[in-house]
Amino acid sequence: MSDAVITLPVLEPQEASRTDWDDDSLVLGIETSCDETSASVIRGGRRILSNVIASQNDLHVDYGGIVPEIAARAHIEALTPAIAEALVSADATLWDLDAVGATLGPGLAGSLLIGVAEGKALAAALGIPFAGVNHLEAHLYSALLADSKARWPGVALIISGGHTLLVHARDDGDYGLLGGTLDDAAGEAFDKVARFLGLDYPGGPEIDRLSLLGDPGAIRFPRAMLRAPGFDVSYSGLKTAVVNYVRRAEAAGEEIVVADVAASFQQAVVDVQVAKTISAAEHTGAPRVFLCGGVAANSGLRGGLAAACAERAIDFHVPPPELCTDNAAMVGACATAMLRRGLRTPLDASPDPNLPLVSQA
Ligand code: KG4
Ligand code: ZN
Repeated sequence: MSDAVITLPVLEPQEASRTDWDDDSLVLGIETSCDETSASVIRGGRRILSNVIASQNDLHVDYGGIVPEIAARAHIEALTPAIAEALVSADATLWDLDAVGATLGPGLAGSLLIGVAEGKALAAALGIPFAGVNHLEAHLYSALLADSKARWPGVALIISGGHTLLVHARDDGDYGLLGGTLDDAAGEAFDKVARFLGLDYPGGPEIDRLSLLGDPGAIRFPRAMLRAPGFDVSYSGLKTAVVNYVRRAEAAGEEIVVADVAASFQQAVVDVQVAKTISAAEHTGAPRVFLCGGVAANSGLRGGLAAACAERAIDFHVPPPELCTDNAAMVGACATAMLRRGLRTPLDASPDPNLPLVSQA
């Protein structure tokens, strides 16, 4: 992390009505919604000049999950150095920026506050526009960032630690919610099952790695909602089924092959999500599928959805793993798309931990 010092210029307050927007714009993205502190400089909405991600995993690992208070404090310490490093890596200065975008919600209240406060302060001091970004919408843009051929419309599966939803992304800012989880998010199920199996936090990557060594057909865990109409899913029963399986096997003195449990659990999630996503693509007639969010880094899900799309000649777009988990490049990309449409977020806007994904078109 660079220890460069940011010295702010003293400028007049920004022109709230500024509407000119050029396609070569330089935007600073800031992401602090959960436990990654990230800053990124994006050129023209698509070119990533830098994407600095300071992970807090080491701070939370002993607790087996995110401690909101620790997360917020860590953002305070890490954000300014992350912004400084993002600017240096992009060979840019604060004065080159055309706008600042920061995640406004959904997320942890204390964590969001740090990024929003710093983003608004920079925008005010520099006299440039501010865009408060929806974190879920930002995840959608990670799919566009990764592939210059990717474009709307499409069906997007946003699957992360906090959310699992299927969205019909018709255009920039024009989204239809098709379905989502009725209880736990998929990433939450990965993390809870991993914790129960004695694996480290975050559990998703651990289960993914372990699954490669196990037999996905070893244990037949339930696939809730698989045959139900619509696009909703449910993961609390699957998590309980894993716990019950392990407890029963232990009580019976049977050997438990943890890699088989991990692989069988992962396969149950993959089967349900692939089926629901394909059925949503067929229902909407969307020509392409986007896979985004932290769980999109999962090798089984990437492979399963890619194969299912290929069989049906549906285009499939998934970002590389580092753009699937939380990062500021996707925030900068989403902010650029908002600013292009003339959207500006007033500097008295507050973070919203429950901000829904709704159309702004
Ligand atoms: O998008 P993200 O970084 O944060 C949220 O917005 O929630 O997603 C984090 C989630 C965690 O639950 C983590 O376990 C999961 O994504 N995850 C994975 C993998 N990598 C991250 N889950 C399954 N397989 C992976 N390879
Ligand atoms: Zn996320």
